[in-house]
Amino acid sequence: MRTQWYKNAVVYQVYPFSFMDSNNDGWGDIEGIISKLDYIKELGVTAIWFSPLYQSPDYDYGYDISDYKAIDVKFGTMEDFDRLLEECHKRDLKVIMDMVINHTSIEHPWFRKALESPDSPYRDYYIIRKGRREGDQLLPPSNWESSFTGSAWERIGNTDEYYLHLFCPEQADLNWDNPKVRDEIVDILNFWLDKGVDGFRFDVFNMFSKVYPIKDDHSKKSFQKGAPYYVDGPHIHEYLNELYNRSLSLYDTYTVGESFHPSDEDAYAYVKEENHELDTIFNFAHLDADNIAGKKFFWKPFDLKQFKKGLFGPQKTYYRDGWNTLVLENHDNIRSVSRFSIDTGKYRYEAATMLATVTFMGFGIPFIYMGEEIGMTACKFRSIDEMKDPVSHFVYDLLCKYHIPKQLAFRFIRYGARDHARVPMQWNGSVNGGFNRGHEPWQCMNPDYKEINAEKDLNSKKSVYRFYQKLLKIKKTNETAIYGETEEYAHDHRQVIAYTRIYQGKTLLVMGNFSRYKASFRMPDGYEYAEVLLNNYDSLKFSEGKAELKPYQAVVLQK
Ligand code: GLC
Repeated sequence: MRTQWYKNAVVYQVYPFSFMDSNNDGWGDIEGIISKLDYIKELGVTAIWFSPLYQSPDYDYGYDISDYKAIDVKFGTMEDFDRLLEECHKRDLKVIMDMVINHTSIEHPWFRKALESPDSPYRDYYIIRKGRREGDQLLPPSNWESSFTGSAWERIGNTDEYYLHLFCPEQADLNWDNPKVRDEIVDILNFWLDKGVDGFRFDVFNMFSKVYPIKDDHSKKSFQKGAPYYVDGPHIHEYLNELYNRSLSLYDTYTVGESFHPSDEDAYAYVKEENHELDTIFNFAHLDADNIAGKKFFWKPFDLKQFKKGLFGPQKTYYRDGWNTLVLENHDNIRSVSRFSIDTGKYRYEAATMLATVTFMGFGIPFIYMGEEIGMTACKFRSIDEMKDPVSHFVYDLLCKYHIPKQLAFRFIRYGARDHARVPMQWNGSVNGGFNRGHEPWQCMNPDYKEINAEKDLNSKKSVYRFYQKLLKIKKTNETAIYGETEEYAHDHRQVIAYTRIYQGKTLLVMGNFSRYKASFRMPDGYEYAEVLLNNYDSLKFSEGKAELKPYQAVVLQK
């Protein structure tokens, strides 16, 4: 029986590499996570999503899996995982596993066997095609680009064949059109569900289905070459429905799909309840409001209107017959207080709490990325060598290849790098921020850990964590905050974001000032005497029907 427990859930994302290193070897681990479960629980969340814990050679830090049924040794053992699951459930925390099934590691036995012999049945688990001969040159089968730069095809040794990889060359795309692959996936999902996990986050799920036969993409409008042939592909809805029928619907699950630039129409179809595909997907459109055309490394001044459009669009579309998610950060994005043209120096607390309020009070499930709840900031990386993410290096090399001066190339990378989110969690002001006992962490620390850390935040009068506690309590228990319909106000206002949530005669008004200057906002009627449920300042000023908001002030009123 599916209880739809997710509807008032609040999810916390743990990136295991960087959360807590209990054995002081430089890598976070399961034992470390267990030691911090009370900290997570106290925040007020109801579920944890674990970024991959499976065996992996880590070309893409866990997102290249070589054994779906094993825990990677650096994190612990399967017994440790079972204990983690038990400790989460003891605390009433649901467990959501990351499922990376668009591709496997090239070290996965399936891929190894596929390459061993031309007759291997595993060849058809992947997308392997002959290259094209032009004169004496061998070219890839098509002009498709990988999301991580360069061709999406990698040549197999000295043969004239290539395999498809939409991400790193070490991440080979699976052929979902092969029913045997789908059988394997169902088996993997059921393995974890039988253990008792409560749901999955499907990595880049809307790339599972490709258009065959493979052909060049000549469209000028593609986000990246080939995208029309591998995003929202022809069988994706069918495949999701199959997973639902053969696995997900047989347990009390929740699913969230990470989508890659989906069309509006497909996005809606993925989450429409009656379609039996996914419960929710992530929408990241609002996170492109300070970059050029969705390209993370290319800065543009923050566009509040674009942010609003991205944030409210899915709330409107999915309201009647689907559910939504609300996201500010994850392991692929820079820290939210350090973007959106925010003044982090003076107003870090106000900005962090404003961002959380205006985002998480909307319609949908809040997803909080570890460290966001204490207002962690972007890392002050000094050189490209401090960054571990392969993508930072691919893009850096590409920029240098186009003769962009190294210093400038590094500035681009530092602007959008995923590494910012992947530095170790800052627990206290001691060595390595309390992440471990002094062994050099796999990824450098953010040098600001003495100033910004969980212990200091909790002891501060302006504690982001304590504000989150209040916010999440409302979010979980107030029916209007859970079920209310969102109506946006003042879309054209250049500083303020404002909306109501309405449910069974009750209304919440949420307002936030997105700037370092005062801002005035004409409220809908009747809110001057409404109850203040949440405020990140001590007071709130009204004048003639207008709310006079201080820098980064955020307020929730109820009537
Ligand atoms: C998703 C993950 C990202 C990973 C990529 C390839 O976007 O969030 O971290 O690199 O998929 O698996």
